Amino acid sequence: MVVVLTGAGISAESGLATFRGPDGLWEGHRPEDVATPEAFLSAPELVQRFYDDRRAALATVEPNAAHRALARLEHALGDAFLLVTQNIDDLHERAGSRRVLHMHGRLKAARCTECGESTHWDGTLVDEPPCPFCSQRALRPDVVWFGEIPYGLSEIDVALRRVRVFVSIGTSGNVYPAAGFASFARAVGARTVELNLEPSLGIDDFVEHQHGPATQVVPAWVDGFLAEREA
Ligand code: APR
Repeated sequence: MVVVLTGAGISAESGLATFRGPDGLWEGHRPEDVATPEAFLSAPELVQRFYDDRRAALATVEPNAAHRALARLEHALGDAFLLVTQNIDDLHERAGSRRVLHMHGRLKAARCTECGESTHWDGTLVDEPPCPFCSQRALRPDVVWFGEIPYGLSEIDVALRRVRVFVSIGTSGNVYPAAGFASFARAVGARTVELNLEPSLGIDDFVEHQHGPATQVVPAWVDGFLAEREA
């Protein structure tokens, strides 16, 4: 089983800001001011507008060569592949990936805080549209904020117990549980690979690493890996 974990760095060259830029801000905001349940309670309009802007920005960007390389890898490996992303953008899907688990949710989904249903969402939420299921005006972005439980943890756990190759791409290793996957993978005997612009916080958990822009290092690694398998 090959498990790939991606973070904001894979979408950086498509034009989406990473969370922890050089100034420590995410699109001008401290993450705790826009990405916590407390922020949503105290400043719902600011938070909704922030995510509405991020959702609208998706229409202005395209997947890059790194996203496409992972779609190629999935095509070659089929069932023996899982892509776990911390990203809330839809660039993996637009590049052709299908086995994608969005552990931090998706910008293009809204969840009702009254009835709990989640639905595909392309528009805005700041104007408090009614939930298509229960009609309450209680929709929020279906993303996982700090202090909330990520999606898909049991599916990820099953995959990590069978992982032979674990590849971490474009993530700083700041946020758990994702930041702990590499050490788990290593403990079960997997080959662990980091492809990132710079060494992440978890660099010691990786037996291989390539540091550089994702659009260069990811396609090169995927091509090398597929050639190795065929040899
Ligand atoms: N190519 C490869 N890596 C890059 C590139 C690039 N072009 N540009 C930046 N990076 C690297 C950075 O060096 C950094 O290590 O991507 C990483 C991005 O780290 P973060 O901004 O911390 O993003 P991420 O790790 O995805 O954050 C995890 O934190 O705020 C929460 O829920 C949010 O999912 C997010 C989580």
